[in-house]
Amino acid sequence: MSEMTGRVVVITGGANGMGEATAHTFARAGATVVIADLDTERSPLVEAEIREYGGDAHAIVTDVRERDQVDALVRQVGERWGRVDVLHNNAASLELTAADRGVLDTAPELFLDTLRGNVYSMFVMTRAALPLMLEQGSGSIVNIASLSGLSGEMQLTSYGVSKAAVIQLTRSTAVQFGKRGVRCNAIAPAVVKTRNVETYGTPEGEIIYRRAMAAPDVAVPQDVADVVYFLATPASRMITGHVLSVDGGIHASQPINADYRTWLEGGPAPTD
Ligand SMILES: NC(=O)c1ccc[n+]([C@@H]2O[C@H](COP(=O)([O-])OP(=O)(O)OC[C@H]3O[C@@H](n4cnc5c(N)ncnc54)[C@H](O)[C@@H]3O)[C@@H](O)[C@H]2O)c1
Repeated sequence: MSEMTGRVVVITGGANGMGEATAHTFARAGATVVIADLDTERSPLVEAEIREYGGDAHAIVTDVRERDQVDALVRQVGERWGRVDVLHNNAASLELTAADRGVLDTAPELFLDTLRGNVYSMFVMTRAALPLMLEQGSGSIVNIASLSGLSGEMQLTSYGVSKAAVIQLTRSTAVQFGKRGVRCNAIAPAVVKTRNVETYGTPEGEIIYRRAMAAPDVAVPQDVADVVYFLATPASRMITGHVLSVDGGIHASQPINADYRTWLEGGPAPTD
């Protein structure tokens, strides 16, 4: 029997990228994994991949922006397994980031759609799953925020606001339900190599991030999946309301450090 045997883990956006890596991580540890994703093609594929090695995965196609679908998902999980041990709020409307610019250049509708896709979705998922967690007297909620929610962004105005809101949702949930056994934490990645970054990112953008990092290279999905797993297990039992940066040290660094390092290493002196 492994650590996660008998545990039910719901992962939104579990059909791709970081959510997919996290689904495999929990499945390999013996959990029952529910993949709640709107991707009708990838969801059954990830379910099948997990089942191939004996894992217990269930794809339940869900759009987490839709409250009715979220409630139906949790109802189904409750009826079938009677519990939710881990809720991993990972899905976000990343297709909106392409047109998410500065304050003056971003459409107000896009701003609202981003909040709906990135934080309202986590709010309704949390609201739906909490009663089961409170009934069982335990649970861990792990929300994916972003470095974009921790400091000002040159672009991605709406995305950054939504991720800052995810952090506040995380803290409030932790404070309100900690005494009843439910923890809630957030993870703030910087760049993680997923299809999202491949689609919307640029090689230049990746170089800029890498220059600002203390770690030698940008993250891969498993780097985040391992931290989600840690936050779901008793190893992290005293950690709640926390925002854990998985960013290779960007947020720890002074903004001047990338240029400073270049200069110290004999690169060109800074000019105005
Ligand atoms: N990749 C990065 O560099 C990076 C950095 C910081 C934060 N993040 C955050 O990490 C999370 C995952 O990103 P990723 O890079 O793995 O993206 P991804 O595009 O690879 O995967 C996202 C998944 O979410 C699903 N999804 C989107 N909207 C949904 C909805 N309304 N309902 C259900 N499922 C939905 C998609 O179908 C997809 O399977 C997001 O919250 C993102 O904001 C990513």
